[in-house]
Amino acid sequence: MSKNQELKRHCPLVPLKGILVTENIANNYNDVSAFCPDPSDLLIATYPKAGTTWVQEIVDLLLHSGDSETCKRAPTPIRMPFLENTARIGMPSGLDLLKAMEPPRVIKTHLPFHLVPKGFWENKCKVIYVARNAKDNLVSYFYFDQMNLTHPDPGPWEGYIQKFMQGQLPWGSWYDHVKGYWQERERRNILYLFYEDMKENPRREMARIMRYLDLSLSDDVISRIVELTSFKTMKDNPMANYNFITKPIFDQSRSTFMRKGEVGDWMNHFTPEQAAEFDEDSEKKMKHVNIPFRTQL
Ligand code: A3P
Repeated sequence: MSKNQELKRHCPLVPLKGILVTENIANNYNDVSAFCPDPSDLLIATYPKAGTTWVQEIVDLLLHSGDSETCKRAPTPIRMPFLENTARIGMPSGLDLLKAMEPPRVIKTHLPFHLVPKGFWENKCKVIYVARNAKDNLVSYFYFDQMNLTHPDPGPWEGYIQKFMQGQLPWGSWYDHVKGYWQERERRNILYLFYEDMKENPRREMARIMRYLDLSLSDDVISRIVELTSFKTMKDNPMANYNFITKPIFDQSRSTFMRKGEVGDWMNHFTPEQAAEFDEDSEKKMKHVNIPFRTQL
């Protein structure tokens, strides 16, 4: 990357209550933590690149009985605001969007469990968490950081693996993130989903989401939603593929938002030595929990 392009990316990470985030997210956090949802609001929480947009699209379609036109009313982050996101060119902040919307709202966050505004738990809001195996999550984040110019430059692959292992990427440690929600899932009635399960059997996972949301849709409608939320259909859907975000923010000539959508792409990136080091480190960090991640199908 040329020096000029580096300079355009002025987005140092700063600490926020135990994690690293970009400065604008940190500065906005007091307002975010004071946000009080309505009990009818739904929160979709993820570590970045775990399949957030996919689950958002599924939820929106389930809530609108598979009506694809209604679900094309606006791009994803306008339909389902990103709670902690600050205003950008042509895009209001998550909080401003939420103020202008009537509940029930679907809200996205990447905040770890301990930073989610208390109001979500006090009001017993429903929360869907999506987790993706660490190595695929890392690969996806590596490409995303190449095109997302509001994040620090990812640098070379080898160094990026180290940053991921040390929790030095925006929104902090993947390990703490997936563990935080896992440990609270029963007490807080969190629906904890896995990206790999959704790839394996989207219909089954959609049915789980439908039941969690107290909806009842016919098999035909579910079949339509499976089709409408396939990787290929979403990649071609301008309301779901983030093409509306302009190049100074998301430069999709470097990597597309809807990049590959596969389980096991890590095998095309990690050397055997890198995978062994990563797995050894991961085992230590995850030794007190037993979260059933799968790295291939
Ligand atoms: P890849 O980079 O591996 O392709 P998020 O929405 O949390 O930012 O996650 C983005 C990741 O989810 C990207 O992964 C993207 O391609 C993938 N994704 C988005 N929609 C998908 C779909 N319908 N099916 C499978 N994967 C999808």
